Amino acid sequence: METSPKEVARLIKEKGQVVAFTGAGISVESGIPAFRGGQGLWEKYDPMEYAHISSFLTEPEKVWCMLREMGETILKAAPSGAHKALGALEKAGLLSAVITQNVDGLHQMAGNTNVIEYHGSHRRLICPTCSKTGPFTDEVLSVMPFPVCERCGTALKPDVVFFGEGIPVAAMARADQEATSCKIMLIIGTSGVVYPAADIPFMASRMGAKIVEINVSPTPFTSAITHHFLGGGASEAMAAILDDLGLAGV
Ligand code: OAD
Repeated sequence: METSPKEVARLIKEKGQVVAFTGAGISVESGIPAFRGGQGLWEKYDPMEYAHISSFLTEPEKVWCMLREMGETILKAAPSGAHKALGALEKAGLLSAVITQNVDGLHQMAGNTNVIEYHGSHRRLICPTCSKTGPFTDEVLSVMPFPVCERCGTALKPDVVFFGEGIPVAAMARADQEATSCKIMLIIGTSGVVYPAADIPFMASRMGAKIVEINVSPTPFTSAITHHFLGGGASEAMAAILDDLGLAGV
């Protein structure tokens, strides 16, 4: 059901304990394109060809062309108004966790301290052979044809979940725990088509949480489990909710 920021604010005041579940849409206003739709990354790069772990292991040089582009965009990005609003909600004691499918680290930059990175982080590199990790810095962008592990010589990859890889066990356990204990799940900017991540709001719904969704267009969640749908851009919607909570400018 279409709702208003005022109604969402009322619900938050009444129930508290919000957990946010976010996707690429929340970072679009930070200059990071989403995956699907017009400007989406998967319109330019076929994910099975560029984002499957077997492609990375057999053709790291090709896959690094896309990873370098993503890395450059992410390193330049700053939190959007919507990221900052989630930071302010946590500061006000109204938000206990952010479960994100994003790998850009912008929730942490906006001040959220309990961020569950379900698909890993593009701000770290990991060696697929010996698991050594390190930061993904600007210098990495200029290493050609790709960075290698100083310990074992394997092509390094960003510590993100590729297709064909499992979700990090600890992230999955923490996400399940937050989803099953929250009173309100605030879904922001995700198409809800990638599993197992898309199971998280369903889990929250089954445990009785109110589902609030913010997106520029409806998703599979909308008709299935969403109680309150706020159409529009994430930053504008979140600013209006914060305003109605009396937290604007916090
Ligand atoms: P998608 O690109 O699939 O979906 C982005 C969603 O954001 C869409 O529903 C848009 O309508 C919405 N959107 C766009 N701009 C918005 C704005 N300004 N405000 C609010 N909503 C907006 O991205 P995800 O759902 O995050 O996985 O994709 C899920 C996973 O698919 C990603 O984590 C990634 C990808 O393959 C991996 O890399 C493992």
